[in-house]
Amino acid sequence: MSSVSRRQLLKMFGIGTAGAMSMPLISRAQTSGSFINPLQIPPLDSGSLIQQEGGLRRRHFDLTLQKGQTRFVLDTDTPTLGINGSYLGPTLRYRRGDILDIQVHNRIGEESVLHWHGLHVPQRFDGGPMQSIADGGSWNPVFDARQPAATLWYHSHAMHKTGPQVYHGLAGMMILDDDVSDSLDLPSRYGIDDIPLILQDRRFNRDGSFDYMSRYGDIMIGQHGDIMVINGTVSPFFEATTDKIRLRILNGSNARLFNLAFNDGREFLQIASDGGLLDKPVPLRRLMVTPGERVELLVDVSDGNPVILRSEPSENHFPVFPGAFSELMRAMHGESFDVMEIRPQSGLERLPPVPGLLATLPAVSADMGIRTRRMRLNMGFGSRSGSGQGPGRGNRTGQGGGYGGGHFSINGRVMTMSHINERVKLGDTEIWEVINDTPMVHPFHIHGSQFRVLDRNGVPPPAQETGYKDTVHLHGRETVRVLVSFTDFADDMHTYMYHCHTLEHEDRGMMGQFLVTENG
Ligand code: C2O
Ligand code: CU
Ligand code: CU
Repeated sequence: MSSVSRRQLLKMFGIGTAGAMSMPLISRAQTSGSFINPLQIPPLDSGSLIQQEGGLRRRHFDLTLQKGQTRFVLDTDTPTLGINGSYLGPTLRYRRGDILDIQVHNRIGEESVLHWHGLHVPQRFDGGPMQSIADGGSWNPVFDARQPAATLWYHSHAMHKTGPQVYHGLAGMMILDDDVSDSLDLPSRYGIDDIPLILQDRRFNRDGSFDYMSRYGDIMIGQHGDIMVINGTVSPFFEATTDKIRLRILNGSNARLFNLAFNDGREFLQIASDGGLLDKPVPLRRLMVTPGERVELLVDVSDGNPVILRSEPSENHFPVFPGAFSELMRAMHGESFDVMEIRPQSGLERLPPVPGLLATLPAVSADMGIRTRRMRLNMGFGSRSGSGQGPGRGNRTGQGGGYGGGHFSINGRVMTMSHINERVKLGDTEIWEVINDTPMVHPFHIHGSQFRVLDRNGVPPPAQETGYKDTVHLHGRETVRVLVSFTDFADDMHTYMYHCHTLEHEDRGMMGQFLVTENG
């Protein structure tokens, strides 16, 4: 690293270069294979364990949201936010059946909250915008882990501020283990053969600070960066010591989608989606991961050759017509760039063969849903799409212009704290039909439950989408139906959220809230 001058590096990273437009393009340094920093692994935190009567395990976690300075490149410090650290947070690891008792302290100078993304927990402990913690305040959610083993995560969910707070670092991973995951011979040594990868893209100002929302397009397509940061590491490499490694990948970007592949086109196995293990490993060469989604992959590196994880161009459903927005969309989907390098070391430890069967997933079909709820994702013209006052019907978007307003809505309504959008009856299983009325990708997320994808544009989903999901992406004009059950928690007061996980869309209203009650 010392061989590269600061000026060269800044130039490589494109820092301070004025782009003609807010192209989300990843800078050239990221595509030329210069991997100079060992991948940082977030510290593991299993809490303090208290064994209780009847074999109950209670884990106490202390999480402090704080301000910090983080060095991403050379001698420049970036003002950041972190949890028990300067940027991002520890990986929280726990077991099914545990009781989690979490003290969250907010010391960031403004209101915030932590949401447990993908966790099946009661509304009042879910960490949505309603549980806002004032600066200097604390919050103490307590819940038990009653869902299958999975890679989950936590992040800020402050109203209108989720985008900037997550961008500055308020996010972390969670690993939930259970008897099923224990019984399988899967790599599970954290940081050795079981590797957390929080994928984020960032844009820097000349003074080292993060550049957030300064350019045309940042609102419409969401904040993109031109430098990949993985677990807080720029240009990382990982030295593998085993012949296969498990990658727990979290797309922790605000808006960037990844179409993951390896530079040599090698096959990999997907073993888990958002909510846990798939029924069997799915062989793939490419995999789309949009913001909020997690995937677990097994990669065979037994040939000993270095290999680069990268993102390849993805399908663009945006109509091609002249104009800056169309151009942005083409840039967003047309990019290919490197994420990180995996360097197998000599004398690789041989791990057991990959199990052929993983988890047992109940079969699903549309007739299990007692009703269909429609969720239309809209992008508004100008500035007046469903103001949130009264039953406003947002404007439908047409193609060709009109995407400059920055308003996002669901079923024509912009999210407001005071309006409950949907009421659900405890115990019901429903079909949520999500209709993307816009020409761009949106990752749709539901709090509180893991769902199953029934179909995408009427066609059953590919194998990698057949497991438990809490976030599903929709390409432009697509319709996806999911089957979702509302078990266990009823609450007349506290809601769960559903929203687009492009954080700039969420912050601008592409979100709603629902109650789950005994009577619906
Ligand atoms: Cu990642 Cu509303 O959440
Ligand atoms: Cu969530
Ligand atoms: Cu969106």
